[in-house]
Amino acid sequence: MSTYIILLGPPGAGKGTQAEILAQTTKLSHISSGDLFRENIQNQTELGRLAKSYMDKGELVSDDLTIAMIRDRLSRADCKDGAILDGFPRTPIQADELEQMLAEFGGQVDAVPYVTAAESILIERTGGRWSCRAQGHIYHKKFSPPKQEGICDIDGSELFQRDDDKEETVAKRLRVYFDRTMPLVEYYRKRGKLIEINGVQPVEQVTKELLTALKK
Ligand code: AP5
Repeated sequence: MSTYIILLGPPGAGKGTQAEILAQTTKLSHISSGDLFRENIQNQTELGRLAKSYMDKGELVSDDLTIAMIRDRLSRADCKDGAILDGFPRTPIQADELEQMLAEFGGQVDAVPYVTAAESILIERTGGRWSCRAQGHIYHKKFSPPKQEGICDIDGSELFQRDDDKEETVAKRLRVYFDRTMPLVEYYRKRGKLIEINGVQPVEQVTKELLTALKK
């Protein structure tokens, strides 16, 4: 039986940071919808062109495009044992589609850690974030700086600031999160899958709570 864990939470809560660690610990693949879109933008694909028009405005990419991309990604061999999903699903339609998809793959959503943080913290975190060009490793200029400025500790690639981390775009992303993604908190709570995690703690402490909760 495969294992599927969904990390839910607002922009900047620390989903990507924790997903990276969880993937190493569990040996499951880390599937980030945002990273997949950014990869497509970098490779100048048609999907990337379409996704960019939404992302630059802080809006969600359409459900159809997003679902097709995730279906394709989860069908690959490295997801045969399951995956850590980061940033997907983000709407009730995506969540329903995921349920069907996983049933086809012989699995189900096992747990949904919901990482929370106050708005002022989310703004500070997104404002200081640096991401690595090659594999999306995540840093923060104050909270987790790289050893050498502008260079990823893990793969040596260039670090960049995301276009959608500008303050006005983050404000829009937060509004979109509250309108369109927050309903998933109740969606998964009703199904008994939601695990609330306080994201306002050092990264290691968040990981510790996450792993303890998942073991239960
Ligand atoms: P996406 O890339 O998924 O962005 P997001 O969900 O808005 O989340 P972030 O990546 O901003 O934050 P995070 O929670 O992962 O935080 P992180 O760990 O990096 O999506 C981008 C866009 O793509 C969307 O706006 C949309 O347009 C599109 N998209 C993606 N998925 C979609 C979908 N399913 N449907 C439709 N459209 C979709 O941490 C943030 C910073 O804080 C980092 O600098 C980190 O180092 C630091 N940090 C993390 N944890 C801590 C801690 N505990 N203490 C101190 N600092 C910390």
